[in-house]
Amino acid sequence: MLVNTKEVFENAIKGKYAVGAFNFVNMEILQAILETAEEEKSPVIIQCSTGAIKYAGEDYLKGMVLASAEKVSVPVIWNLDHGKTFEDCTKAIELGFTNVMIDASSLPYEENVALTKKVVDFAHSKGVTVEAELGVLAGVEDDTQNSAQIYTNPDQAVDFINKTNCDSLAIAIGTSHGLHKFSGEAKLRLDILKTLSERLPNYPFVLHGASSIPEQFVSLANANGATLKNAKGVPEEMLHEACRLNICKVNVDSDLRICFTAGIREYLNQNPNDVDMRKYLAHGKKYVKQLVKDKMQTILGSSNKA
Ligand code: G3H
Ligand code: 13P
Ligand code: ZN
Repeated sequence: MLVNTKEVFENAIKGKYAVGAFNFVNMEILQAILETAEEEKSPVIIQCSTGAIKYAGEDYLKGMVLASAEKVSVPVIWNLDHGKTFEDCTKAIELGFTNVMIDASSLPYEENVALTKKVVDFAHSKGVTVEAELGVLAGVEDDTQNSAQIYTNPDQAVDFINKTNCDSLAIAIGTSHGLHKFSGEAKLRLDILKTLSERLPNYPFVLHGASSIPEQFVSLANANGATLKNAKGVPEEMLHEACRLNICKVNVDSDLRICFTAGIREYLNQNPNDVDMRKYLAHGKKYVKQLVKDKMQTILGSSNKA
């Protein structure tokens, strides 16, 4: 069933677990996520970026979601990932998304507050919840990686939530998007998260850039022709600790991409004359399911919580 984040995050805070937010752009990945959520009896968030919407088309995505998410028994949130404008969010709400992210984190603070509040007022009038973002998720090449300004400031976060009434907040504590999160040792500012959890004990925070980039699947992809070098994700112990604090939503996209690609490469290498896409896509899907299951059981702690 499709729901917004309200009750799902209240339960996650109480139970000290987090809900996985998995990106999808096609049928196989969506099926892998939802089948696993149902098997694990876990709440789940399926999400589409604006790029995914452009790639697959609004009507296809809506059709797939209505044909699947509405029918599973576990709570499913359909989230717009990194909406940049008011129009991105209103369009998604019209389409049937149950949570939207307005990512105005690159704007000056007061503009982020104003745009987020505008989205919140509209979304709440439609029963849709809103995720906002404060702080900057730096890339590993970014010179500002070690600068204090990129991390979410707890005082500002309290002020931001009071002013905007957003339902969840994505914070910057050292993660970044993609396959190369750390050039040296992995560091997360869990102290900032602890301060936030003390200041706002029942408030749900969101961790973007939370792929762990499992060595097993990077090696499998490389053994089958990929050249993924220096890929490094967030260590699982750190993710686990964050999920025991107030991180309620853990965003994963890169890990799914690696698993799907590794599976397809492996299948085609082993069966070079097979052109049936159902076979190689199913093999990629099998690894995505394995990854999602492992996340739910060992990192998020969301299995059997639906
Ligand atoms: O946060 C970014 C997500 O991984 C989506 O990426 O914009 O390439 O679809 P995308
Ligand atoms: P990863 O690149 O770590 O998977 O992060 C995905 C994400 O944050 C989507 O919003
Ligand atoms: Zn993100």
